[in-house]
Amino acid sequence: MSLHLGDIAPDFTADTTDGVLSFHDWKAGSWVVFFSHPADFTPVCTTELGRTAALHSEFAKRNTKALALSVDPVEEHRAWAPDISEVTGTPLNFPIVADPDRKVAELYDMIHPGEGDTSTVRSVFIIDPDNKLRLMLTYPKSVGRNFDEIVRVIDALQATDRDPIATPADWKPGERVIVSTSVSTEDAVKLFKDVVEVKPYLRYADAPAR
Ligand code: BEZ
Repeated sequence: MSLHLGDIAPDFTADTTDGVLSFHDWKAGSWVVFFSHPADFTPVCTTELGRTAALHSEFAKRNTKALALSVDPVEEHRAWAPDISEVTGTPLNFPIVADPDRKVAELYDMIHPGEGDTSTVRSVFIIDPDNKLRLMLTYPKSVGRNFDEIVRVIDALQATDRDPIATPADWKPGERVIVSTSVSTEDAVKLFKDVVEVKPYLRYADAPAR
């Protein structure tokens, strides 16, 4: 099944390092960063899972939970967890799905046979509280992900859900935003501070204070 932004993220029940989890029930009302890694006891993956653990409080501020997955069995995940803590300085604080029969990986199209073998590539799904897929990223096995970017996208998605805005290239929280093309400039000046019309279709404004 091919997944598209706006689709409902497929539900599943699976064993994890925190016990059996039913995805939609577990995430109930939260944003989720659901990401796959190729294998336990591998170097890039160790750094990625430690980095995700270190972001726990940043994710919590954004009502976001992390969930990892690989096709290794749960015993392997549990045996690997102390290495993540030792190497990165942060104990594992989110569940890793064990998917040895590849059911969830196939549901989310996380196995790309051209990438070497039948382990998962580095897929990322950001899923909103209504279970909708809001972002999909796919990285090769050899390249560790930029988790600052993942937090930045959550900030941008939450900002664009709150107000009729979009975010420009390389936007970071606190920077100026783009007024949605659905809002006239006449209405924009009532809604936003310091509206500047660069082109009729490109109006910058200060992000509404919260
Ligand atoms: C790693 O995590 O280092 C890795 C895993 C599979 C393929 C390449 C790198």
